[in-house]
Amino acid sequence: MASITIRNLDDEIKDLLRRLAAENDRSMEEQARVMLRASVEGQVGSAGRLDQIEKTLHELAGSRQQATPIVAASGKAALRGSLSGKRILLIIGGGIAAYKALDLIRRLRERGAAVRVVMTAAAQEFVTTLSAGALSADHVFTQLFDRNDEHDVGHIRLSREADLLVVAPATADLMAKLANGHANDLASTVLLATDKKVLMAPAMNPKMWSHPATRRNRATLQKDGVVFVGPAKGEMAESNEAGEGRMAEPLEIAAAIEALLDERPKPLAGRRIIVTSGPTHEPIDPVRYIANRSSGKQGHAIAAALAKLGADVRLVSGPVTIADPACVITTHVETAAEMKGAVESLLPADAAVFVAAVADWRTANAAGEKIKKVAGEGPPSLQMIENPDILAGVGHNRQRPGLVVGFAAETQDLISNAEAKLKKKGADFIVANDVSHESGIGPSGVMGGDRNKVRIVSKAGVEEWPEMGKDEVATRLAALIAERLKTIVV
Ligand SMILES: Cc1cc2nc3c(=O)[nH]c(=O)nc-3n(C[C@H](O)[C@H](O)[C@H](O)COP(=O)(O)O)c2cc1C
Repeated sequence: MASITIRNLDDEIKDLLRRLAAENDRSMEEQARVMLRASVEGQVGSAGRLDQIEKTLHELAGSRQQATPIVAASGKAALRGSLSGKRILLIIGGGIAAYKALDLIRRLRERGAAVRVVMTAAAQEFVTTLSAGALSADHVFTQLFDRNDEHDVGHIRLSREADLLVVAPATADLMAKLANGHANDLASTVLLATDKKVLMAPAMNPKMWSHPATRRNRATLQKDGVVFVGPAKGEMAESNEAGEGRMAEPLEIAAAIEALLDERPKPLAGRRIIVTSGPTHEPIDPVRYIANRSSGKQGHAIAAALAKLGADVRLVSGPVTIADPACVITTHVETAAEMKGAVESLLPADAAVFVAAVADWRTANAAGEKIKKVAGEGPPSLQMIENPDILAGVGHNRQRPGLVVGFAAETQDLISNAEAKLKKKGADFIVANDVSHESGIGPSGVMGGDRNKVRIVSKAGVEEWPEMGKDEVATRLAALIAERLKTIVV
């Protein structure tokens, strides 16, 4: 077959070829050959694909900026179909992670979703509308004031024709705009003009993420119902930068989208559940603290599993290095006293699951300045006092949730200690885990590791679960909680 010189084709045809090629994972030349071969072999007739292509070309030429009705991807693109028929409006903000948004488009289309893209002016400094358009197979929207779009109130239509709005990467700027009701470009106006759910995947420098202004904006957005996925901790794209602020990976964002759009009946819908997770840090002085080996993996997994069953989960997390679970509202604390305050402020609730490894003691008087090492004086002696017992406090509270679950990490006498804890703390059941070296769970052990072996201790007796991944423990526990809550009327 003679070679095809793409650059000699006119712009419309090139644009269309580019989109079809991206859709089918081919080069543009290959795509053109496939279409020509099909034409020569009579595979496309008057009602076939070439006619369709010609029609599309006319539409493109006539109204390049008009929104075509958004339709879900089908055929080869709809690989797994978990988002089949769903329409996602993806807003790409101006951050380095914008390149990951391109992969997200692919992942969503693979799952059968139709993806329409809005890009901010800053986003276009990082990735092109051409790439986003080729991957989404749709026009990419960038302008608030657009003669073609605005005659049909483009920003309202963009929101109306979507099932979910996803902001990835969500810049500090976009978060600030929505938290404060600004609407001065297409992205912020669509976000303000929508009544659909909004999922944000923040990505920014760790200092921007931990800035009090960004923290305030995030809290406001969560109160307003915006759902967050990530950010994670890790290496940043900028050299020598690490910390919290990395955008969640496209597959994690796709999973959060699937969870948000899952319309199957959920057993915990309408139930509010408090979960605590991670260790606490008890200060000795401004730079030193007493901590433990808890990673937060089990507590975070339980929070995520409960959210999957439809619960309104409020997670209170001590300092951990893992990301906040998606679709969960997380409060971050450092000390046991802060954790107690945060938990109490979340009452009343239908259930509370106390997974956090709360320090039993803290120093009586944490020093205001760094304790200096003075030659000849020896080490300082730390006077310890008892921390409040958060589980017992809630277990005996007049606002006690209908179901209270505690965790007991023990290195000896696991069952008898868990039974004693059950009575003393007013819990309905205790999830007991053996955190000794003898537990037989891998070199990293239960605390910090990925596996767990638990026993459910209740008045009814002891139920032993086999060793499994922490995610599996979480799924089983969430199902057990859903089962128990069925019998508890609010
Ligand atoms: C090289 C570079 C990288 C940037 N990366 C980020 C980022 O990851 N997250 C962020 O919030 N802002 C980042 N910014 C700043 C935003 O681009 C800037 O705040 C912009 O106004 C955001 O616009 P938008 O929210 O409309 O997309 C970056 C800026 C530059 C120059």
